[in-house]
Amino acid sequence: MRKLAAGNWKMNGLSATLTEVDRLLQAHPAPRAEMLLCPPATLISRLADRANGTALQIGGQDCHEKGVGAHTGDISAEMLLDAGAKYVILGHSERRSDYAETNEQVHAKACAAISAGLTAIVCLGETGAQRDQGQTLEVIGAQLAASVPNQSRAQTLVIAYEPVWAIGTGRTPTLDEIAEVHAYLRARLAEKIGQEAAGVRLLYGGSVKPSNAGEIFSLPDVDGALVGGASLTAEDFGAIVEALERAS
Ligand code: PGA
Repeated sequence: MRKLAAGNWKMNGLSATLTEVDRLLQAHPAPRAEMLLCPPATLISRLADRANGTALQIGGQDCHEKGVGAHTGDISAEMLLDAGAKYVILGHSERRSDYAETNEQVHAKACAAISAGLTAIVCLGETGAQRDQGQTLEVIGAQLAASVPNQSRAQTLVIAYEPVWAIGTGRTPTLDEIAEVHAYLRARLAEKIGQEAAGVRLLYGGSVKPSNAGEIFSLPDVDGALVGGASLTAEDFGAIVEALERAS
């Protein structure tokens, strides 16, 4: 399986940010790991043009569950594909909290994404309170069961384990805690989609940075990372790509 370094720019990035992408591609023209950037929708087609013919893939940060229609402000999976995206992040905890997205909506969006020909990156993760109460595996298991489509295949699904309390905080779970969740996810995924589960990339996300990427990537069942803040500069994201290459 080819490991994946995915960057989630969230609501960051203007035309000027494209120079970071040029710097990233100059420093990493042919990485062994797959590189993916998910910019805001306004930059997808420009980034896709820039990335054309390079090792960099482009993705969206959300899509609507319907193909077309009267949904002001929304973007369909087919539109993302048309703009040059190959991936879409779904069910990120910020969308689950800002827009009260449910597992059922994430499931419907993932079905739409896969049908349109995108790879869905489905995000899961417990809150700090849920971890403190010992509910982590239960919460993650329920999110996986309800948000991941049964028709997912290794090529059309990526799972990102992102503890809510680790996102943008600089705090991360211990290596044992990450390994425990990833092993659990692999096992639960195998119950759901059978042998395809072995090829699904399981990303860790939440305060990944150059200084901790190497140890996180050394863990079994960690097949890459979903990176927020540290994906905004070519230097930091490039260092994370290098750490993933060393672990591959
Ligand atoms: P962070 O965000 O790397 O800034 O913690 C991760 C994410 O939300 O995907």
